[in-house]
Amino acid sequence: MLKKKIQTAFNKQLNAEVYSAYLYWSMSAHFESLNLKGFASWMRIQALEEMTHAEKFFNFINERSGRVQLTAIEGPPTEWDSPLAIFQATYTHEVKVSGMINKLADLAVAESDHASQVFLQWFVNEQVEEESSADAAVQRLKLAADAPGALFLIDQELGQRVFVPPAAGA
Ligand code: FEO
Repeated sequence: MLKKKIQTAFNKQLNAEVYSAYLYWSMSAHFESLNLKGFASWMRIQALEEMTHAEKFFNFINERSGRVQLTAIEGPPTEWDSPLAIFQATYTHEVKVSGMINKLADLAVAESDHASQVFLQWFVNEQVEEESSADAAVQRLKLAADAPGALFLIDQELGQRVFVPPAAGA
């Protein structure tokens, strides 16, 4: 049985994961408007991943006989100044999410909820990858700043990303 405190915090994180999907979907729409199809596709896959994160919380809350309570999703920004600004915002957002996950891990320890601690480990590892991939794109876009042709190469490369759903039970 999930303690009320953890249930409330997990429902809040479920909302935050759906917001992340919304944010990346909005970024994808922005890239579509610039006809940068590779970046747009990368962001759409990022949004899909975020929905699998939300679903993990949905499933875990139910498995622990808790109650999923969905709340309104805040509207994301719709415009950014440049592809670099978008990936900088992505990196900043992922650092913020890492902080949220760390706080949840602290709460699970404080509440002696070992099952939640194990569950959250997946997210702790995932956040390392999330920050790293956003930061890699930021660094490459900075290098490309003085070479417009490079932007299209990065667009093509990011367009190669494929959606890989997390393994069942992972
Ligand atoms: Fe759900 Fe991008 O972390």
